[in-house]
Amino acid sequence: MKLSIIGTGYVGLTTGACFAEVGHEVTCVDNNVEKVQMLLDGKVPIYEPGLAELVAKNVTAGRLKFTTSTAEGVRDGDVIFIAVPTPPQEDGSVDLSFIEKVAREIAESLKPEYGYRVIVDKSTVPVKTGQKVGDTVRRYAPAGVEFGVASNPEFLREGCAVEDLLKPDRIVFGSNDERALALMRRLYDPFNAPILVTDIESAELIKHAANSFLALKISYINAVARICEKSGGDIEKVAEGIGMDKRIGRSFLNAGLGYGGSCFPKDVKAFIAISESLGYPFDLLKQVEHINASQLDLFLDKVREKLWVLREKKIALWGLTFKQNTDDVRESVAIKLAQRMIAEGADVTAWDPQGVTTARRFGNLGDSLTYGEDMYACLDGADALIIATEWPEFANADLNELKSRMRSPLIFDGRNLLDPQTVAAQGIEYYSVGRAAHLPEPASVGS
Ligand SMILES: NC(=O)c1ccc[n+]([C@@H]2O[C@H](COP(=O)([O-])OP(=O)(O)OC[C@H]3O[C@@H](n4cnc5c(N)ncnc54)[C@H](O)[C@@H]3O)[C@@H](O)[C@H]2O)c1
Repeated sequence: MKLSIIGTGYVGLTTGACFAEVGHEVTCVDNNVEKVQMLLDGKVPIYEPGLAELVAKNVTAGRLKFTTSTAEGVRDGDVIFIAVPTPPQEDGSVDLSFIEKVAREIAESLKPEYGYRVIVDKSTVPVKTGQKVGDTVRRYAPAGVEFGVASNPEFLREGCAVEDLLKPDRIVFGSNDERALALMRRLYDPFNAPILVTDIESAELIKHAANSFLALKISYINAVARICEKSGGDIEKVAEGIGMDKRIGRSFLNAGLGYGGSCFPKDVKAFIAISESLGYPFDLLKQVEHINASQLDLFLDKVREKLWVLREKKIALWGLTFKQNTDDVRESVAIKLAQRMIAEGADVTAWDPQGVTTARRFGNLGDSLTYGEDMYACLDGADALIIATEWPEFANADLNELKSRMRSPLIFDGRNLLDPQTVAAQGIEYYSVGRAAHLPEPASVGS
C-alpha cells in the first residue's frame, strides 16, 4: 500500500521505516528542512537501535522517501498519518496547533481525483480530536474530496522502537468509517499482531489511559520505596514479590528518580486536563504527578545530607537521557537533576553514551554543565557520583577504576543499578532508592 507520514520525528521516522520494511511504499514528510536534508543525505537524525540500517535498506529498495512537501505526501499516500508533536500548554492541556495546522495543510492539498484517503492520527491526542480533524479537513478541502478519519495511537518505546513496531503487543485503531477501517486492516495485516478495532474515541482514550497507568505503576513503586526506606525493607525484593503476581507483572515497578521523557509527564498532565474538561477531577493522577515530582526532591535531600552543601562540590553525573538506549533528553530527570545541582553551585561533569550531543543542544544548560571524555574521565576528583539513567554500561562499571578516580568514593544511585553489597565490599559508600544505605567495612574506608 502507499502511505505518507506527516512529521518525521521519533515516531514518524521509525513508523515509516517499519511500514516500508513490511513492504509498503512510504513517503515521510517533515517541515524541518535541515532534518529532511540529513535524511536525503543518508543520515538519520536520531539514535534508535536498528533504525539507521532499516532506513538505509528501505531507501535503497525504493520503498521509503523523504520530502518537505505535505502536498507530495497527500498526493502519494492512500493513508496519511499525522505524527507531529502534541506538547503541553501552561495549564497542562494539549497544544493541538500542530495537529490543526497539518489537518488544514492536508485539506488544502487533497484533490477529488485522488480518490478516497484515510487521515490517521498517530500523535497522542485528547479524545474527540479525530472529530475536530474531520471537521477541519471538511472545512478547508475542495468540494468533492472523499476521506475518512481514524485514530491509531502509537505504543512504541524509545530505545526499542523498531522491535516494538515490527513485533507489537497489540495494534489499536479506531474509526467511525468502515472504509477507513478496511484500509487500516490491510495496512497492518503484514505485522501479524493482535489487532483491536474500536470506535475513534476509544482508540484515542486507550493511549492516554495506558500511559497514565504506566506512570501510576512507577509512582506507586516509588511511594512503596519510601515506606521501605522508613522501615528497613528492600524495594527490589518487594517489587519482585509484587511482580511475580501475574495480575500485576514486574515491569514498570522500578523504584528510582521517577518518570520523565517526552510522553509520560505530558500524557498524565493531558489526561488530568481532559478528565477535568469532561467534569471528572482525576485526583488519583494528580497524586501520581505529585509523587513523581517529589522523588527528585527526596533524592537531592539524600545528596545534601551527605555532602552538606553542594556549592563547589565536584559531582560526576552518569546519564543524561530520559532512559537507556536513546539520545532523547526531553523532560529527562537527569537533566533536571543537573540543573538543580548546578543552581546550588555544584560543579557537575556528565557523561552519557548517546545523550551528550542532544543535551548540549536541548538541555538548556549552556556552558554550566561540563562533559567528560568518557564515563570514567568524568569521575576524576569527584566528591560523589550520581547515576541518573539506567544504561547497561553503568550497571557493569569497573568499580576499582571508579574508586581510583574519585576524590571520595561515594555513589548515589538513582536507578538502583548496582548491587549494594558488591559496591560496599569495594569500600564505596552507596545510597540508592528504597534500600538501606550500604557503608563500606570500616577497615576498607579510604583503602
Ligand atoms: N516519542 C515517543 O516515544 C512517542 C511514543 C508514542 C507516541 N508519541 C506521540 O507521537 C507524537 C510525535 O512525537 P515524536 O516524539 O515523534 O515528536 P518529534 O518532535 O520527534 O517529531 C515530530 C516531527 O514533526 C515535525 N513537524 C511539526 N510540524 C509539522 C508540520 N506542520 N509538517 C510536517 N512536519 C511537522 C517536526 O519537525 C518533527 O520532526 C506526539 O504526539 C507524541 O506524544 C511519541
